[in-house]
Amino acid sequence: MCGIVGYAGFREAYDVLLEGLKALEYRGCDSAGIAMINKEQGCLEVAKVAGMASLLEQRTRGKLSRSNLGLGHSRWATHGRPSDKNAHPHVSCCHTIALIHNGIIENYRVLRAALEKEGHRFLSQTDTEVLVHLVEKYYRGDLLEAVREATDRVEGSYAIAVVCSNEPQRIICARKDSPLIIGLGQGENFVASDFAALLPYTRRTYILEDGEFVSLSPESVEVFDRGGNKIVKEIYEVEWDIAAAEKGGYPHFMLKEIMEQPQAVRDTLRRRIDLEAGRVLLPELDLTAEEARRISKIYIIACGTSSHAGYVGKYALERLASLPVEVDPASEFRYRDPLLDQNHLAIVISQSGETADTLEALRLCKEKGIRVLAITNAIGSSAAREADRTLLTFAGPEIAVASTKAYLTQLILLYLLALYLGQLRGTVTREQGAELVRGLNGLPDQLVKILTPECLTELKEIAVALAHWDSIFYIGRNLDYATALEGSLKLKEVSYIHAEAYPAGELKHGPLALITGGMPVVALATQEKVLEKTLSNIQEIRAREGAVFLVASEEFVGIERQADWVFHIPRVHQLLTPVPAILPLQLIAYYTGLARECPVDKPRNLAKSVTVE
Ligand code: AGP
Repeated sequence: MCGIVGYAGFREAYDVLLEGLKALEYRGCDSAGIAMINKEQGCLEVAKVAGMASLLEQRTRGKLSRSNLGLGHSRWATHGRPSDKNAHPHVSCCHTIALIHNGIIENYRVLRAALEKEGHRFLSQTDTEVLVHLVEKYYRGDLLEAVREATDRVEGSYAIAVVCSNEPQRIICARKDSPLIIGLGQGENFVASDFAALLPYTRRTYILEDGEFVSLSPESVEVFDRGGNKIVKEIYEVEWDIAAAEKGGYPHFMLKEIMEQPQAVRDTLRRRIDLEAGRVLLPELDLTAEEARRISKIYIIACGTSSHAGYVGKYALERLASLPVEVDPASEFRYRDPLLDQNHLAIVISQSGETADTLEALRLCKEKGIRVLAITNAIGSSAAREADRTLLTFAGPEIAVASTKAYLTQLILLYLLALYLGQLRGTVTREQGAELVRGLNGLPDQLVKILTPECLTELKEIAVALAHWDSIFYIGRNLDYATALEGSLKLKEVSYIHAEAYPAGELKHGPLALITGGMPVVALATQEKVLEKTLSNIQEIRAREGAVFLVASEEFVGIERQADWVFHIPRVHQLLTPVPAILPLQLIAYYTGLARECPVDKPRNLAKSVTVE
């Protein structure tokens, strides 16, 4: 969602901040702003626009004074529409303090009313502005102290960075329930909400915890707890480099990330399967056979694409570990009354590890005494730190808002987990286990077969045919329904076409009424045991002149006659078909988005990391 970048050092702060804002835009951005301490006069200079960092640059390059210290923010509107005034940084009445914020201040109405009574003048409709007035209120010559007092008064979530022209050499930062990272340099230091803004300068970082405060200057970084006691932080060295967060010759991050999937799967499997023994190894779980046998039910909790991975996980866990599994969108789970008991296990899935609803669901489970396992792509994220155990996907940085390789690696981990629990609980035989381990190991090579120039051209042609429709159905049964859910979400996100996924057997209970001449339906047929049923559903569509685009396993011979167009996916184990089957759907979404001239990497209104409820 919103992005934070701050710099104190010897470089031109303007350049560092603008580059940082551009690197953070993938998180979602509708306005951008910077505040810098003017080097000569020591006063604050602030510039903000409704729009992306490039617009801010157009308006300000060469027009601001030189500075070596400042803050930058990319906003994704929650309270107050995108506008120059609502953009961050927000500035105190006396124009000496500037503040940027990610998160939501829940008690801002009460605070604002009280501050207005005391004479503070508010310029925006945002919740954030109360923070800068609170810091101003408590400022008595020590910015760190003022920030500590101000944050004591607020309820909600925040990652903040604050500067004050009376203390021109330091930035104060604080976090609660919203990520914040410090980048460590030589004679310069950084703060950012995301590694992407730091990587051109440093890989040495501190990952801040809730309740930590930082005083950052060009020469030093001091971290304190809420009581003012100094904390010694461990340095976290980021493993991936800037190239991993760049397009590397591809026109879009989304295409690059789709093409990286064979490698991402390989990386996620590495050291987790023993081919010879035909077994899965997940030492990170630190789970005994007895503990595994005691688990009586699993809740999978996630949002969006990650929850679609959860549906595949449900099939795998039920089949291999013989456990009942419920899948819940986190935003629903946290407001219902699930009947939890100590033998239940909660699995939260989150690419970013920072999704607000998923984190709240995680906390709810922990409060109720349920063990929580996190599946995430972000080491050091809140989900990874708060869960009892974490399984990391090794997808590398995913920049496009539409998740592709993170989804695929989540599937891989869920298969590994299901098989591992099956091994421990004795619910899979040695032969079944070995067959699946071989199947998993073979997946990257099968994926490569779908990513050839010929297949890409074929999928592009289909996308061009779909691009002028306003509405498209995705159907499938069993595991294919889970894939349909994810395929339709991809199309919605990047092409803005209304797409709806249905279990194929549900069509005649309503949606069939919408099938008329030429109406496109994307169907999936990879599951042998329901193949005939799915084919009947396809014929019902074609009898009403719907046009069927079918993704089917290559072993189903003669299936070509059953649809208007068929894309074959290579043969894999029946339980693993969601892995290759999603690739053509991702590519159809991508090429349809391009055909409709949509900004595929940054769809309107969406954010990469949804850190607010
Ligand atoms: C994926 O394409 C979406 N942009 C979105 O649904 C995403 O999966 C969801 O917001 C959850 O994010 P998370 O995995 O980081 O928790």
